[in-house]
Amino acid sequence: MTDFELMQSRHSVRSYLDKPIEEEKKNLIAEKVKQINSESGLNIQVFFNEPKCFNVNKPGYGIFKDCKNYFAMIGPKVADEKIGYYGEILVLYAQELGLNTCWAAMSYKKGNVTVNTEKGEKLHIVIALGYGETQGHERKTKSISELSDADDNSPEWYINGIKAAQTAPTAINQQRFYFTRNGNKVKAKAGHFVYTKMDLGIVKYHFELGAGKDNFIWDK
Ligand SMILES: Cc1cc2nc3c(=O)[nH]c(=O)nc-3n(C[C@H](O)[C@H](O)[C@H](O)COP(=O)(O)O)c2cc1C
Repeated sequence: MTDFELMQSRHSVRSYLDKPIEEEKKNLIAEKVKQINSESGLNIQVFFNEPKCFNVNKPGYGIFKDCKNYFAMIGPKVADEKIGYYGEILVLYAQELGLNTCWAAMSYKKGNVTVNTEKGEKLHIVIALGYGETQGHERKTKSISELSDADDNSPEWYINGIKAAQTAPTAINQQRFYFTRNGNKVKAKAGHFVYTKMDLGIVKYHFELGAGKDNFIWDK
């Protein structure tokens, strides 16, 4: 499977099977978390077989069923974009291992997450993890022209980057981001609303996979 196919095959999954994650996969995931924490300075923790996190009796948006595993995304108090970027590395890694995920800002019980936070850190968000009842489903996306300044003269790598960004999860599927290009310099801006900075980190990781990191540099 190519990176693009992997991104395309990922959808948010909220209903899970009562099927434990194999020891081998758990070890691979724990190792990946360790590697990401040492690279990023984040303090991400992964929990297996802890059903309490999603045990919320809140009807409506994003009710979760039988989710027993999750990533607790912990880091410095102001780290939204970083949390998004590194969390999405874990999401796509889980997808590669045949697992399903869903970012969850609202649909979990913070009081039921027993995390160890260091001074100056906080729990930003969690990501549900496990074997889904289904692989989720396709959803609507904004068009390339709504999300960027790309046109018929844009290089292929740029279009591929935007297409990859279209597949990225964003809170309430808001897709409030916009890409601009000047030569090989690319700027990505977040719109103003909830979780747009975290979304931006997620979207930038997708863009890098789609465009190829060697083809451009980020314009801050
Ligand atoms: C930062 C962030 C927070 C999210 N919070 C929730 C949540 O609290 N509950 C929920 O059910 N889905 C949540 N989602 C999942 C989004 O609703 C989902 O990613 C979006 O609708 C796009 O669908 P897709 O992931 O299948 O592409 C969140 C996604 C992101 C990126």
